[in-house]
Amino acid sequence: MKAIVTGGAGFIGSNIASALEGKNARVVIVDDFSSADFKNLRNFRGEVITQDINEVVWEKLETPDVIFHQAALTDTTVTDQKRMMFNNVEGFRKVLRFALERKVRLVYASSAGVYGNEAPPQVENGRLSPLNIYAYSKFTGDQIAAREFKNSKSLIIGLRYFNVFGMGEQHKGTAASMIYRLAEQMRSGKQPRIFHDGEQTRDHIYVRDVVEANLKALETKENGIVNIATGKATSFNRLIEILNDVLGTHFAPDYFDNPYDFYQKSTQADTTLAQKLLGFKARYSIEEGIHEYLPILYQLKSRKVASTKV
Ligand SMILES: NC(=O)c1ccc[n+]([C@@H]2O[C@H](COP(=O)([O-])OP(=O)(O)OC[C@H]3O[C@@H](n4cnc5c(N)ncnc54)[C@H](O)[C@@H]3O)[C@@H](O)[C@H]2O)c1
Repeated sequence: MKAIVTGGAGFIGSNIASALEGKNARVVIVDDFSSADFKNLRNFRGEVITQDINEVVWEKLETPDVIFHQAALTDTTVTDQKRMMFNNVEGFRKVLRFALERKVRLVYASSAGVYGNEAPPQVENGRLSPLNIYAYSKFTGDQIAAREFKNSKSLIIGLRYFNVFGMGEQHKGTAASMIYRLAEQMRSGKQPRIFHDGEQTRDHIYVRDVVEANLKALETKENGIVNIATGKATSFNRLIEILNDVLGTHFAPDYFDNPYDFYQKSTQADTTLAQKLLGFKARYSIEEGIHEYLPILYQLKSRKVASTKV
């Protein structure tokens, strides 16, 4: 199998590229390294094209069997609308055009951000209310993709990732998962800082499950856009309990006022369609994911997971 992974030097893309190589696929990464980390690719043996997806001469590329499109500006606090739309939407349009012309399967990353503050559980055909320009760029990408569903000779599968965490996200700074950011604060001896009153919730999904969802999308025979999540919501207060348990610490949260007016209060996915379309169900609960991730990241002795299965 030949695969192109855009954004393959980033967090999720590098995990996908590595899983594909593990299955003996020939992988070409296209990444402009604008928010990547070469360390994610130290074990990667395929080709790396360092270029902006808006500037790639797509006609010159060999036809792959599949494209995993992950490249995007992923910082939800970026307010430069022109930059975000040009990067995420016009870039996506070019990748989509290439896939359609070559009749190639396209699996692309969308985001739970498209739901905004719609009440959970968020379902794919429910209302969409993007709250910031990042979420709007993903919402627009989904509209562009869906317009092709009827007549396309390529299979197009959009994966609306919820909050992803795991190895390979360390370069993302303030756009990294709250799991990583809070763990870093606690590791440096500080109280974990969260917004009042800590009862906001997130549907966190471990990157290994996200990779699995992408691999499942290789098999599906139908177009569609599906939620990729566990279907379980966890409050930030509970998240700190889990982190204390894994890190062997006893920190209380340090609450502060939320300065953002575009903040999602609660995310929790309806995962029915992912099961139906992809046969995908997350294998890791948040506890299990964190109990695997942080001991690898910080070279800790693994502690026993005190949790239920997803
Ligand atoms: N991490 C999450 O929790 C999450 C949640 C929902 C959706 N997503 C989506 O998943 C995808 C991967 O995100 P990630 O968390 O791995 O972020 P990331 O920033 O680590 O990866 C994005 C990669 O895309 C590259 N890139 C950005 N613009 C590019 C361009 N114009 N041309 C070529 N390369 C470009 C960056 O250099 C980076 O390597 C993104 O599309 C993101 O919107 C992520």
